Parts: sequence; C-alpha cells; structure tokens
Amino acid sequence: MSRHPAWLDNAIFYQIYPQSFCDSNGDGIGDFQGIISKLDYIKDLGCNAIWMNPCFESPFLDAGYDIADYYKAAPRYGTNDDLIQLFDEVHKRGMHILLDLVPGHTSWNHPWFKASMKAERNEYTDRYVWTDSVWEEAAGYGSLRGISERDGSCLVNFFTHQPALNYGFFNPERPWQQPIDAEGPRKTLEAMMDVMRFWLSRGCDGFRVDMAGSLVKNDKDGKGTIALWQKVRAFLDKEFPEAAIISEWGEPDKALEGGFHMDFLFQSGPSHYNDLFRCEEPYFSSRGKGDVTAFVDKYVEYHNKTKNKGLICIPSGNHDIDRLARTLHGDELKVAFAFLLTMPGAPYIYYGDEIGMRYVEGLHSVEGGYRRTGSRSPMQWDNSTNAGFSTAPVEKLYIPLDPAADRPTAAAQMADPTSLRSEVQRLIALRQAHPALQNFGEIEFVHAGYPLMYLRSSGDENLLVIINPSAEEKRVEYAQTLGTCIYQLNSAVRQDGNTLVVPAQSASVFRK
Ligand code: NOJ
Ligand code: CA
Repeated sequence: MSRHPAWLDNAIFYQIYPQSFCDSNGDGIGDFQGIISKLDYIKDLGCNAIWMNPCFESPFLDAGYDIADYYKAAPRYGTNDDLIQLFDEVHKRGMHILLDLVPGHTSWNHPWFKASMKAERNEYTDRYVWTDSVWEEAAGYGSLRGISERDGSCLVNFFTHQPALNYGFFNPERPWQQPIDAEGPRKTLEAMMDVMRFWLSRGCDGFRVDMAGSLVKNDKDGKGTIALWQKVRAFLDKEFPEAAIISEWGEPDKALEGGFHMDFLFQSGPSHYNDLFRCEEPYFSSRGKGDVTAFVDKYVEYHNKTKNKGLICIPSGNHDIDRLARTLHGDELKVAFAFLLTMPGAPYIYYGDEIGMRYVEGLHSVEGGYRRTGSRSPMQWDNSTNAGFSTAPVEKLYIPLDPAADRPTAAAQMADPTSLRSEVQRLIALRQAHPALQNFGEIEFVHAGYPLMYLRSSGDENLLVIINPSAEEKRVEYAQTLGTCIYQLNSAVRQDGNTLVVPAQSASVFRK
C-alpha cells in the first residue's frame, strides 16, 4: 500500500459552499465565522473532514473559480486570520479541512495575467498559454483575443474570463507550444506549489484540485499531467506528509497514478456515476428501472487498476450538478445514502444533501452558476428568518432560498429520529464502528442489479451489504448463511432456502 495520511482511513467529508452555508454578519453571504459557528453541526452528523469551495480574492464571475489572488481570502468571507482560525477550530474538533486549489486558470483580473498581456517580455510572459499571433487560435480550445497589447491569443480553460496557465504541451505541434520541461511551464508549477505551501503551512490539511486532469495540453493519455502531479506528490511527501489531495479528474487510474490520494467519480467522464442518481431512470429510483451494471463493471475495472494506490470517491453531489433530491425522494434518498456510506473510498456529502435539500427551480444565474445555481441555494438551518442562514433582508441573500413551505431544515430533522439526517447519522456511526466499511476496506460485488449486493472486508471482519432501491420485493439466489444483521433500513431480508427475499426500498448489512 502506498503511504497515505492516516486520517484518510476513516475520513468522511462534508462539502461546504462558503457563500451559502451560514452568514454571521447579516450581509446575505456566508462567511468563515458562520462556518465556524456550524462546525459542531458537522461533527454531530459524524463527518470528520471538510472540503470548502474556493474562498479567495476574485471578481466572482465563476463563484470564485476565477482567482485574482491565491494568497488572500476574499474579504466577503473574512480575513486570512479568520480562515486560519477556521483551520484551528476544525483541528480542535479532531477534524481536517481541504481548500480548493484552482491550478488550471486564473481570473483575467489576476496580476499575473495583466503582466502576461504586455508586449514587452517579463516574468509572466510564459505563465499562460499564448499563440504567437492574434490571428491564430489554438485548435480545440476557446481563446481570449484582441484585449492585449501582446500579439497573440490566450487559451481559456472554462469560461472566457479564465485564461489557461501554462504547464506546457505533451506533444508540442506549433512553435508557441512549449514542452512540459521548458522554463515557463516549470515556473508555473513552482508558483502553484508555493500557493500550496503557503496554505499548508498555515494549517490547511490539503486540497481538492479543480480540473486536475487537464493541466498539460495535447496530452491524450494524460501522461504529461500524471508526471506533473507526481512531482507535486513528491513535494508533499517531503514537506507536508500529512496533507491530502483529491482530484477533479474522474479517471482514478490516471489520477492515483499521478499521486492523488483520492479521485472523484463524477458527472463527466466514463464512470457511469450518473446512472445511479441523475438520469432518466436512475438506479436509486423506486421505479426500479435503472441499470447499475455498467457502473459496477467500470468501478471494478478502476478498483483493480488502482489497488492500494488510493481512494475512489463517490460524492452525494456537488456545486456543479443537480441536487440528489431533484431525482430522488423520500426513502429513495435513504437507500442512496446507505450505498454511499457503505462503499469504499472517502464519502463526500454536499452540504444540505443530508437533509434532502431540493434543487431550486427557475433561478437566474448567480456568479456564473447558470443551471448550477439551483444546487447552490442557502443552507436551511431552521424555521427562523431566512431559514436561519442570514439576518439580511431577503432580497440581499446571495441566492434565493428554496421557497417551498415544506422545505426541509436541519433543526426539524435533528429532532426527528425517522428523518433522512438521522439515517445518515446512523449510517456514519455504523461505518465508523466497522473498519470493513471504511475507506480502505476491500469490496467484492456479489450481485449487480436489484438487489445490489457486495462484501466489504478488512482483517477478520466480513460484512455483506444488500440494497434494494426498488418499490418491489426482489428475490435472488444465495446459498450461504447471512450472519447477524447489524444495520437495517425498512423491512428485514428473509432467507427462504437458497433464496433471499429482499424487501422493497431496503438496505441491510450483515456480519458474516
Ligand atoms: C470545476 C468546478 O467545480 C466548477 O464549479 C468550475 O466552474 C470549473 N471547474 C472551472 O474552474
Ligand atoms: Ca456574511
């Protein structure tokens, strides 16, 4: 097993979108002090780690994924000292926190980019990817043209205002395409490692890395990008061996080869993540018309390719995709969480998913959110003003709240033992009591369909998980004894000779 920080063995992450979590000063936008005031809530749920979306100086044309100063917290969230206080408060509770590193691009407001736009050669000329004539665009990429004194087009990574930092080309084909070991690309990587060093030495525990798989251009198989991250991992192992990194890559075989401790399965990419939760017939819908087999096949392939190299993480959602509760409802959500919290890899719970927060329909785009805005609405704490998120006048809220009269709240669900949040809390406690269920425990699929069955094991502990999202009872051949039931959602599984009878919308875990 490759070395990893020990705290990853049983880390369960909670994703915080800082602008929508808790507003401490009544300006309508969440902030660091607000987050500090809710750390006990996260701990009470059972999560022991946090990933927080970007919180740095930015014009916020992409909610902070357009950074203008990597070294400065955005004033709307607080000061650098507040952020460091947040690290300390997290650690006091025995928890860890990852910041969001955006190494692929900056805001077009970043001083590096302003210098890079100058005609005269300077330190930042090669910090971004430029063609050598404004009349040439880079095939396959968007570009920024006609705004610089410099004669050239600058590649963009995502939105037009996000110029691509220069990590070089794996196979340079044009004179302006620099090889990965040229001085410009090397200096860009050094600059990014300095950013990491700055925050790690102030107490953050690692990073979620934005668009990690696309730094080196013209790199079809990812070889250049893998080599780049291996350098970063060597730097971390040497200077910050307790730091963890997780990639937004979606191809764990490549990401973990590159030295990431964890990679997300997510919406884009070949993982079939969407088959489970977000397609016309999701596997976890009680209609029971979904298909889990392509997901399982791909998962097993990745699992076999990455054995002992790191974690494959399946998030409940994130700030880029529809809320889980847009497609799943009621007990469907409980069954989905039973899966998410009994799979290997570190679980990631997107804020509010633990109470079934809904996707808010019909919103105008906020800060480059577009369709994503509906998944970024303020956390619903209780029934007080603005659901306890903020004391600001309602029109000043960063994003409008879910207007539904029956919108779920954390307070109500904490008081209700039958709520989704209570179920999530129970599942987390179960996971934390059984090493076989934890992040590095083994998995072997026994049946892929309705029901889904898998064995989890670690040391002497062998557990069997049986999940049936369908509204119909299902039967499956199973000649072995089941063992002792240690978790049960809804009715109990029965054994009828060599047949298991798995009740509708149930989840169970047996100790073998
Ligand atoms: C992925 C982030 O999750 C998303 O929110 C952002 O817009 C793009 N990367 C660009 O940074
Ligand atoms: Ca605020």
